Amino acid sequence: MPIVYSSADFELSPKLSRRNPFTPAQLLSLAVLLVVFAIQVFRSPTLLSEDHIEVSYFGDKTAPPPVCKEPNLFEAPLPVTRPDKMSLLAEAKRVAAEFEYPAEDLNIGVKAFIEQMHEGLQKTGSSMSQIPTYVTAVTNGTEKGLYLAVDLGGTNFRVCSIQLHGDTTFSITQSKVAIPKELMVAKTSKELFSFLAKQIENFLKAHHDDHYQAQIQRRQTVSSPNGFRSAEIFQLGFTFSFPVNQVGINRGTLARWTKGFDIQDAVGKDVCELLQAEIDDLGLPVKVAALVNDAVGTLMARSYTSPGKTGTLLGAIFGTGTNGAYVEKLSNVTKLESLKGSDYDKSTGEMIVNTEWGSFDNQMSVLPNTPYDEALDQESVNPGIQMFEKRVSGMFLGEILRRAILALIKEPKAKLFSDEHSGKNELHSTTSIAEDSALYKQWGLDTSFLSIVAADSTSDLRVVRQTLSKDLSVDAASAEDAEAVKLLVNAIGKRSARLSAVAMAAIVIATGNHLSHGGSVSDDIVDMGVDGSLVEFYPGFEDYIREAFRSIPELALEGEKRIRIGIAKDGSGVGAALIALVAAQADKS
Ligand code: BGC
Repeated sequence: MPIVYSSADFELSPKLSRRNPFTPAQLLSLAVLLVVFAIQVFRSPTLLSEDHIEVSYFGDKTAPPPVCKEPNLFEAPLPVTRPDKMSLLAEAKRVAAEFEYPAEDLNIGVKAFIEQMHEGLQKTGSSMSQIPTYVTAVTNGTEKGLYLAVDLGGTNFRVCSIQLHGDTTFSITQSKVAIPKELMVAKTSKELFSFLAKQIENFLKAHHDDHYQAQIQRRQTVSSPNGFRSAEIFQLGFTFSFPVNQVGINRGTLARWTKGFDIQDAVGKDVCELLQAEIDDLGLPVKVAALVNDAVGTLMARSYTSPGKTGTLLGAIFGTGTNGAYVEKLSNVTKLESLKGSDYDKSTGEMIVNTEWGSFDNQMSVLPNTPYDEALDQESVNPGIQMFEKRVSGMFLGEILRRAILALIKEPKAKLFSDEHSGKNELHSTTSIAEDSALYKQWGLDTSFLSIVAADSTSDLRVVRQTLSKDLSVDAASAEDAEAVKLLVNAIGKRSARLSAVAMAAIVIATGNHLSHGGSVSDDIVDMGVDGSLVEFYPGFEDYIREAFRSIPELALEGEKRIRIGIAKDGSGVGAALIALVAAQADKS
């Protein structure tokens, strides 16, 4: 069954009110706990800290309930804080401080970002690619029709068909497969693209059998196997989320791979042609009508579903990779003339530009840097490239954290995960790191780990300790160990969000949207659509972004309030369909 979405599904859920009163159930639980607490005070001094923990949880009404799937795992009483562990926390704070990104540096970052944006609009070969997309109009929610979209950009390949209802809602049917690791670094592009075409065929068979059968019949009865009636041909939007030198709405050559992909033979080739060739080999009734970056798709999708009249300014991805696309004045995209791209509609005076902000400041003139960032970059497949992305996006945060944790394990003053007293004190079980722990493997630490750690608000950090055991084979970590890890996670996550704010704010300022246009509040909103696991799942990511916005004088509190950020979940699929529609319309006229 297709899922029907409406604009309401795309707003970030409202924050929990900090003034929520106690519910009667909570009051009752509190009373029971206080009685138990009193009994324990007189009976068992060793249980004091446990009871205190529970009471303090109920005291914090904003905290979500702790998630602990195996509550018995940490039944043993907590180790008490020891003097040597004090130095662990001091060391953890020292490492965490290396990730601080103060307001002064942040403002320098905004200025540099605006400069590099301008440079990219004028010439090719600059740090930020500022790729013209040849999409000159954003959608307004009235578009209709059935379109196909595929999405290649990270760990999964998605195929979907989208029915646009023309009233800001749409239905989507989709399937998703993991891309086999060996195909990400295949010898030839054919290996990857034939796999993609095969997935499209499977999808059509499963969900649009009528079209598929009509095509089989035609193949058997007519001499030209590809001679479909145009009504039978699916227009497909191809979301390809890598830097592409785009020269037309469905034409573009791959500039370079990112996010761990590396198939040299594809670089410099037109990716739409590569996909179309494999689709034709299978005789599918599908035309690759549009080439779309996921940030561009997100912008289009947000524009389609966004409430009110205000057009969307920016689409941004904070997932495996990071990127942004925004609406720019055509007259500012001065390099268009030298690009000799295909013709496009100039009537709106605007064009969506794919910034490829992942490569902002590859020259490292203003980006923050730590030894962990440096080592990560040196040992990556593309050293010196995507330097902004390597500090912001999901693919890299886990790896930065892994390296920072290893530093604390090696640091004699910190001794993370080493319970020296376990032999002397029977209350403690021995803390151990398995030899094959993911901590010792490059890319071994998934960014979802950061989200789980950041979300743990239990006062003994039992979820962190449970996850350390489950994901990283670190057994019997102490509460101090968990606290040290949490300090690192918060620092890395916060820096990522503040850097994200630099990019978003720079675009608001560079396009003049920091200045209020006056008029009603709704006319004055600056609308942004965002997607990706970080912004969706990392607790407080948007709050950190907003805090950073307020520290930028051009925005300050007033500007921050005017910015509306909405999740455009899986927006790139819908966006690709919308761009395929724009392309098909342009084809007809
Ligand atoms: C790619 C972009 C993409 C972003 C988010 C980056 O690595 O270069 O094209 O939009 O990831 O998926």
